[in-house]
Amino acid sequence: MGNFYKKSRLKFECIKRVLSDTYHLDAVNKSEIEAQKKPLRSDILNYLLTSLAKNETTYLEIGVRNPAHNFSKINAGKKYSVDPGVEFRENPVDFKLTSDEFFEMLRAGKVLTRDTRFDVVFIDGLHFADQVERDIHNSLEFINDNGFVVLHDCNPPTEAHAREAYGYRASPALDYWSGTTWKGFFKYRQNKSLYSCCIDTDWGVGIISKTVNLGEVSTVNNPFFEYWILEKFRKESLNLISFDELKKKVQ
Ligand SMILES: C[S@@+](CC[C@H](N)C(=O)[O-])C[C@H]1O[C@@H](n2cnc3c(N)ncnc32)[C@H](O)[C@@H]1O
Repeated sequence: MGNFYKKSRLKFECIKRVLSDTYHLDAVNKSEIEAQKKPLRSDILNYLLTSLAKNETTYLEIGVRNPAHNFSKINAGKKYSVDPGVEFRENPVDFKLTSDEFFEMLRAGKVLTRDTRFDVVFIDGLHFADQVERDIHNSLEFINDNGFVVLHDCNPPTEAHAREAYGYRASPALDYWSGTTWKGFFKYRQNKSLYSCCIDTDWGVGIISKTVNLGEVSTVNNPFFEYWILEKFRKESLNLISFDELKKKVQ
């Protein structure tokens, strides 16, 4: 009995230490702050679509989950959605496919038409760097020259948010997860033939354009995509700007 009591006390001690650890508390605080930021991704997507001043805009969302959270809020003449249905059982989308499958079929003319061009593609599917890099590459092939590729979750507030293991809910970020999206975006931030920036709201809304000057490429030296370097040079790495600053660049 004495032994059991000692073991239980030890467990509670461990839990208390974890929960009062400054690293853990920092992540909890930063989650709270980020979750309250405005505007939301849908406001930014709608702003970009409106800026194009076209009669009928065409929007594609990769990774939809519950459409009520973003897809349904988007105002565009034509809207298309892609999701294999990993996280939301109903999965009410146009194409129940992975993004790789969708783009392969689009290229082959098996969905929509080969000459389809989108005004805005919103990438919010699988949050791993290599997948995000492919999603950006494929989206750039199918956007209009003045169109935008937009990405969610480009600005993880802490390393715990940028963890690879989505399922590790005991992490200091709890169930908040940006994955390694920032790495895919940061790679394109170094591409001299493109413009890019990240709006400091809603976990980081990255924007890439072929023609609209959104800011300078990143010259931050981070060849191994280390989180501590992102943290130290966050603003320059991501070209982190406010929504008001974006409005001056895109009118
Ligand atoms: C973060 S949720 C999307 C949230 C939504 N865009 C929003 O703004 O509320 C990620 C979604 O990506 C989907 N997904 C997972 N792997 C995917 C893949 N390879 N291609 C496209 N979507 C994927 C999941 O099923 C999930 O519904």
